[in-house]
Amino acid sequence: MATPHINAPEGAFAATVLMPGDPLRAKHIAETFLTDAVCVNTVRNMFGYTGTYKGKPVSVLGSGMGIPSMSLYATELAKFYGVKNIIRIGSCGGLPLDVKVRDVVIGMGASTDSNVNRNRLAGMDFAAMASFELLEKAVAAARAKNINVKVGNVFTSDLFYNPSETLFDTLEKYGVLAVEMEAAGLYGVAAEYGINALAIFTVSDHIRTGEALSAELRQNSFNEMVEVALGCL
Ligand code: ADE
Repeated sequence: MATPHINAPEGAFAATVLMPGDPLRAKHIAETFLTDAVCVNTVRNMFGYTGTYKGKPVSVLGSGMGIPSMSLYATELAKFYGVKNIIRIGSCGGLPLDVKVRDVVIGMGASTDSNVNRNRLAGMDFAAMASFELLEKAVAAARAKNINVKVGNVFTSDLFYNPSETLFDTLEKYGVLAVEMEAAGLYGVAAEYGINALAIFTVSDHIRTGEALSAELRQNSFNEMVEVALGCL
């Protein structure tokens, strides 16, 4: 079986798939964390792997950047490969000053400037939410590893370079913790197909201070977040 964007055979993906934006990060996770990982997707170099972690089957697949890319991969995983849990692992820009670079943020909800979920619901607003089951597991895994996590609303933006001079003030006033580009799309797909989804982030840069993580710290923080995600298995 192949889909327009995935050339893996039927049954090639585990029930749980971790999705970093960058396919080379999927390769890194497979090589660093998984046992007996096999490459299952190569279409467009959007690498995917299936292996085990502590004896439990798990897959990783790059999502690409932005809602359209995340949505098509998440849809094909749910619709054609029977995937039940998708965990986005990515980076975000911190918004309030008490969300610091290197923090782990979990998107309990995802607000957005995208129309994709309105398109799904005949123009109505949809509260794009994480799976409570996965959220509970991720928070417990982070606490067990002494990793500080902040849980709340994130903002999924279609624009990485947003020219608005007021948007971030408004988002911060409404309690948004961080800005990223995929979660609201993933949560919409998960609702459409009745699967579980969660988005976990490391704060790679700060919207207010302009601070950004070095490549080395980015990698360390990324690995911490992967451990939280794998703790959901
Ligand atoms: N991902 C990481 N940092 C981001 C930012 N500042 N805005 C949107 N997406 C991001």
